[in-house]
Amino acid sequence: MNDYRKLIYSVLLLLTLGSASIFADTTDSTVILEHNGKRYMVDTAAMTVQEIGPAKGEEASALFQKNCAECHGADGKGVASVHTPDFTNPALQRSLRTEDILNAIRNGKDGGRMPAWSGKLTDAQIDTLSTYIRSFSKTGRAGGIGSSSRPAQEANRTSNIYEPGDDVLFSLPTGRAVDEHGLYVNFMHRFPYDAAFTGPSRGGELFGLDSFALPSFGLRYGVTDKLSISILRSPSLIGRPIQLMAAYNILDEHHEAPLNIAVRVSIEGQNNFRKNYTQNIEGVFSRSVTSKAQFYVVPTFSFDARPLVQASGFLSSDIPDLPGVNTFSIGVGAAYDIRPTVALIGEVIPTLLNASELGIHRPAYSFGIQKKIFRHAFTFGLTTSPGVTVSERAATRAEFLGEPSADTPWGLFFGFDLMRQIH
Ligand code: HEC
Repeated sequence: MNDYRKLIYSVLLLLTLGSASIFADTTDSTVILEHNGKRYMVDTAAMTVQEIGPAKGEEASALFQKNCAECHGADGKGVASVHTPDFTNPALQRSLRTEDILNAIRNGKDGGRMPAWSGKLTDAQIDTLSTYIRSFSKTGRAGGIGSSSRPAQEANRTSNIYEPGDDVLFSLPTGRAVDEHGLYVNFMHRFPYDAAFTGPSRGGELFGLDSFALPSFGLRYGVTDKLSISILRSPSLIGRPIQLMAAYNILDEHHEAPLNIAVRVSIEGQNNFRKNYTQNIEGVFSRSVTSKAQFYVVPTFSFDARPLVQASGFLSSDIPDLPGVNTFSIGVGAAYDIRPTVALIGEVIPTLLNASELGIHRPAYSFGIQKKIFRHAFTFGLTTSPGVTVSERAATRAEFLGEPSADTPWGLFFGFDLMRQIH
């Protein structure tokens, strides 16, 4: 038997035994053959067989088993004693952007408990691993062998969904889901006493930023990846409300739904939850337009909402007892990524029912720029709304300061939000 025939016979034998598969016809005379995790280029014209490196799916799997499985588990589900995350958890996958994954692999994390691989693995291998990590979700098992198209399909699907950087745009909720047992802090600052671009604040008070601030502080906890509870407290000058909330994510674009829907119910009580209670129920509807933008509509009922007035001091009696009014508002907003980690955000919250009873003459609105880093977001912007609780966010500076013109564009003032996932 000459070489040529030997070659053809061995190829046919491998194929009939089912232990090899032909991958692609590169030219008329070559085939790529996969056998035992290795790939060969068979050139029938030149009569050569050349090993061309392992198949991509297998390479990824092998790389992971060799370097990562010890801490992340062979199935990617994590190892409790090493405190590694469960890569099969869709909520975790949602919270991780591809660049976070690449970053974690390249530079390590958590003071080296997750080692840095840059230098030890090539960029191409790190890319391969990042795709492989994506392939753990949905299937609940490793992608790799025999599922080479699945990671690509998933990447396609998730790449059309926007990932909000924060729980709010500026004050309007994004309804984004949380990690199961994830813990988040929300720190929201508003500087309503001085407008950013008019009055004395421009030079003397650095655009109002070194004037009095209203800092609100909140914690949010994921009971499951759909149900979260949160607590938020605003300062004395704005009535010292404490807001308790439960939020539930009903629909999620990540699970093939046409839009995201979350429902949030909350109760606010002023003077550290001791009086002037307001109950709220909101629906948060959002939809991605490509992976770069998302639109939000938030209808909100508030029962016994209070006019937003300044407290005259720090005593309980300095927080006025004003009658409650039932209101309905529809917040509308959008986020648009101008860079992979930078979004422009905007929102407007018109109160449609009983606005004048609360002294709201113009809809509250805000816009700003948001930097999203791994598990962290910082949003800086201009707003007409001093309050951040559900019922207070629709009210404006005019009502708060008792100055009718204070909510015109010249009355816009600065504010910022910080969000950090601490667990
Ligand atoms: C010595 C143990 C160890 C090894 C080996 C290891 N990791 Fe990790 N990895 C960790 C720990 C611990 C964390 C969690 C760090 C944190 O959440 O702060 C982590 C986190 C990650 C994350 C980020 C997930 C998240 O939620 O932040 C990715 C991605 C990751 N590892 C990928 C890999 C890949 C790919 C390899 C193999 C090349 C690998 N790891 C090898 C311990 C390890």
